[in-house]
Amino acid sequence: MTPVLEVDGLVKSFGGVTAVDRVSLRLEAGAIYGLIGPNGSGKTTLFNCITGVERADAGRVLLDGRRVDGLPPWRIARLGVGRTFQTIRIFPELTAVENLLVVTEGDWEAACARARELLATVKLERLADEYAGNLSYGQQKLVEFARMLMRDPGLVLLDEPAAGVNRTLLNDLLDAVRALRDRGRTVLLVEHDMKVVMGLCETVFVLDHGEKIAEGPPGFIQGDERVIEAYFGR
Ligand SMILES: Nc1ncnc2c1ncn2[C@@H]1O[C@H](COP(=O)(O)OP(=O)(O)O)[C@@H](O)[C@H]1O
Ligand SMILES: [Mg+2]
Repeated sequence: MTPVLEVDGLVKSFGGVTAVDRVSLRLEAGAIYGLIGPNGSGKTTLFNCITGVERADAGRVLLDGRRVDGLPPWRIARLGVGRTFQTIRIFPELTAVENLLVVTEGDWEAACARARELLATVKLERLADEYAGNLSYGQQKLVEFARMLMRDPGLVLLDEPAAGVNRTLLNDLLDAVRALRDRGRTVLLVEHDMKVVMGLCETVFVLDHGEKIAEGPPGFIQGDERVIEAYFGR
């Protein structure tokens, strides 16, 4: 089977720092993958290289078997890659539903219906017409997550979606992520909370100093010596 995402020998340096060091990954359809590692281990840079925000120095990125490295971010997005950021990017002076409609293309009525439907999937339907700036931090993160789904991406990259989100909203988010997986979408999740990773991910990749040091089911990698040293031991 052709993987949804294949990263092959990816390298990205900033000056003297090798942020991503010969990383290879394969993601199959309909699964949730975790990406963990200490701060500065290259997780966000890897996302940036996959989404075209950064250009890798070496290596390849393939979506459904097609090479996409070197393409601009908007083209990669159109090929079905959705992404959220570590820091919130919403428009506070627009309503929650308007924040989703900024990425609208095609039929307006259909887009409005879809936007409200997506807000309902993260239990924000009652706040659809509230200014996004009036929502809590966690609710704003859910708005951003819902917006990312407007184009129904086949591959979803989430950069620390749980950070700063209260338990109730976090459960709403995790339910929505599982629903994506159940609809055959593929999710790659950067997350520090090992309880979240254990409960959600089938396979976890571990980065340290830009290198992939382990890969496997969460229960397995938690017992890996290098992972304990790099991640849990510090
Ligand atoms: N735009 C940049 N310019 C210079 N160095 C960067 C840049 N982005 C990331 N880095 C460096 O690359 C390394 C990996 O960072 P990052 O990918 O943000 O790690 P993580 O997301 O795992 O915390 C760090 O040493 C960081 O300082
Ligand atoms: Mg990061």
